[in-house]
Amino acid sequence: MGLSAPESLNAGHNLSQFSCGKPSLDKWLRDKALSNQQRGFTAVLVVHDEGRVVGYYGLAPTAVVPTSLPRAIRTGQPPDPVPCLLLGQLATDQGWTGQGIGTGLLKHALERCVRAANLIGGRALIVNAIDEHAVLFWRKRGFVPSKDDPMTMFRSIADIAASFVTLAPSKS
Ligand SMILES: CC(C)(COP(=O)(O)OP(=O)(O)OC[C@H]1O[C@@H](n2cnc3c(N)ncnc32)[C@H](O)[C@@H]1OP(=O)(O)O)[C@@H](O)C(=O)NCCC(=O)NCCS
Repeated sequence: MGLSAPESLNAGHNLSQFSCGKPSLDKWLRDKALSNQQRGFTAVLVVHDEGRVVGYYGLAPTAVVPTSLPRAIRTGQPPDPVPCLLLGQLATDQGWTGQGIGTGLLKHALERCVRAANLIGGRALIVNAIDEHAVLFWRKRGFVPSKDDPMTMFRSIADIAASFVTLAPSKS
């Protein structure tokens, strides 16, 4: 059997062996992910191999002070705080890296964010880069650093949505 499509985390998923090389992301998945999801803090999506989770991401609503936003995102007279979405976690088990799982999960997350922002608003997607390697990973994917903290990075929802329009096949 192949890998599952991304699905919501539930109590039947096996998290015990997950190891992405960043202990804080492994621990969050094992100790916090399910309860955070059950309490409505975070939506956690996983990809699994016969129940064993091999990749995951976490999404949550958030809000930030306008002054922390990169200038291109803080256009006009934004509300204070500015409604945003947070991709707080993205990780693949080390035994499965380099096979497109991270890219697939990120695409799934970005599509969800565009749909969510269409329904309830949300100016930008925020990610917290875990280290310098992650900063490069996010920069390559169109995220720009906050004015206050180079590890907090933003991409506008409009920009993400436009990238999907560009990729969509022509209907003619
Ligand atoms: C970053 C991460 C999610 C990528 O997952 P993945 O399933 O390997 O993703 P993909 O196979 O789609 O590859 C995505 C990119 O990661 C790179 N990559 C994959 N495995 C790698 C490894 N072992 N070492 C370094 N880079 C690797 C790929 O080359 C690719 O790079 P590019 O497209 O920017 O050139 C995964 O390596 C991970 O969990 N890292 C630790 C946690 C982390 O840094 N999370 C994201 C930032 S907070």
